[in-house]
Amino acid sequence: VDDVGPAVRRLADWDGEALLALAEEYETPLYVVDRERVTANCARLRAAFPDADVKYAMKAHAGQSVLRTVREAGLDAECASAGEVQRALDAGFPGERIQYTAVNPPARDLDHVVERWREHPALTITVGAADTVERLRDRGFDGRLCIRANPGVGAGHHEKVQTGANAKFGIPAERVADLAEQWDADFDLVGVHAHAGSGISGEDLSDHRELVRRMGELTREIESRIGPLSFVDVGGGFGVPYRETEPPLDLDAVADATRAALGDVEATLAVEPGRYVVADAGVLLARVNTVKQARDATVVGIDAGMTTLLRPAMYDAYHAIRNISAPDAESTPVTVAGPICESADVLCEHRSLPRPRRGHVLAVGNAGAYGYEMSSTYNSRPRPAEVALSETTVRLTRRRETLTDLTSLEQ
Ligand code: LLP
Repeated sequence: VDDVGPAVRRLADWDGEALLALAEEYETPLYVVDRERVTANCARLRAAFPDADVKYAMKAHAGQSVLRTVREAGLDAECASAGEVQRALDAGFPGERIQYTAVNPPARDLDHVVERWREHPALTITVGAADTVERLRDRGFDGRLCIRANPGVGAGHHEKVQTGANAKFGIPAERVADLAEQWDADFDLVGVHAHAGSGISGEDLSDHRELVRRMGELTREIESRIGPLSFVDVGGGFGVPYRETEPPLDLDAVADATRAALGDVEATLAVEPGRYVVADAGVLLARVNTVKQARDATVVGIDAGMTTLLRPAMYDAYHAIRNISAPDAESTPVTVAGPICESADVLCEHRSLPRPRRGHVLAVGNAGAYGYEMSSTYNSRPRPAEVALSETTVRLTRRRETLTDLTSLEQ
C-alpha cells in the first residue's frame, strides 16, 4: 500500500525546528497532532481491510478535530461511553456509523444513549452482560443490538490491557448463541463482537488468530440458527512500534491472517483499531525545568508528567524522546521526570539523550493515542493545550486549562 505513505512515522521523522517553533508559540506541555498522518493511517487500514467495516476506537483520542478527520477518511466510530457517543454525533458521524460498546454501563449512560438512539435509530448498542439487555428493554430500546462475547483468549502489550479472557468483558462465548436466538425476537440482532486486547504485536498474532477463529465458529453457529448477521467485529488492538528499532506491524499480514482465521461467514468482518489510527500522529512537547545530579542519575525535570502522559507510569510504557533544542549535544544517560509527587512520575530512566539543559524542549513520540485522553488534573495540574496540524495550518484544538478552570466545579 505504497500510496498511503510509510507504515510508521518515527519521532525522528518529525521536523524538530517546526516543533520547537510550536513550543515557543503555544508553550508547553503541548500535544501536537498531525491530521494528515491520521488520514494516512485510516487509508492504510482501509487498504489492508478493503471489504471490512473499520471503526475507530475513539477512546484513543476523542478530540473533535481527530474525529472529523477520521470521519472524512471513511472510518466509523466505536464508542465506550455516552460521552463518546455524544462526541461522535457532534463530529458529524451519522447514527449508522456509531457503535456504542457498553461495558458495565452506568444508568445515566444508558439513558443518554437510548435518548440519542430515538433521534438516530441506526445506532448500534453492544452489550456485554445479559442484564444490560434488560436495562435497555426497560428504556424502550428495540434497535440494533450486538453481543460482546468473551472468547477466553486475550492479548496485548501489558496484562492491564488484555480483555479477551478477562471476566469483566463480554458474555462467555458458549452462552452467546442461545442468547442471540432469544434476543433476536425483540431486537434487531446485527452482530457479535470481541476484543482480545491492546497493543498486539507480530508476536502475539497467534492469539489474535485464535480469537478470530473462535468468533468465526460462533458466527456460523448463530447464523445457522437465526440467519445472516450484518457483522462480526473482532476488535482492535493493532500495535505500533514504540521503540525506535521495533519493526512496524505488517498490517496486510494481520488482515490476511484475520480473513483466513474467520473462515466462511455471511457477516461482514469488522475491526476497531484506536491506537493504530492516532499513535504516531501525535507528539508531546515538554520543557526542561530543572537538571540535577542525584546520587546515581542525572535527573531532568520537565513540565509534563504522569498527569499529562500516563502510559509510562501505568504500564511502564516506552516512549521515544528527542532533545529538539540541542540535537547535536553530546549524549548522556538521564532520568526524565515530571512534576508530580509520585515516584511513578518518571518518563524514562538511564536513557541516553543529547544533554538536556534548563529551557530545552523535549519531544515525546507516539503520544497521539491514550495521551491527552488519559490526562488528569491530579496535584491540581491544569491539562495541556493541543494543536492540530494540517497541510498549511496550525490550529489550537484544545486550549490550555487554567488554574481558574481547576476550581470551576467547586461550590
Ligand atoms: N475495542 C475495544 C472494545 C477496546 O476496549 C479497545 C481498547 C479498542 C477497541 C482499541 O484498542 P487499540 O486498537 O487502541 O489497541 N490505555 C491503554 C490502552 C487501553 C485500551 C483499552 N481498549 C494504553 O495506553 O496502552
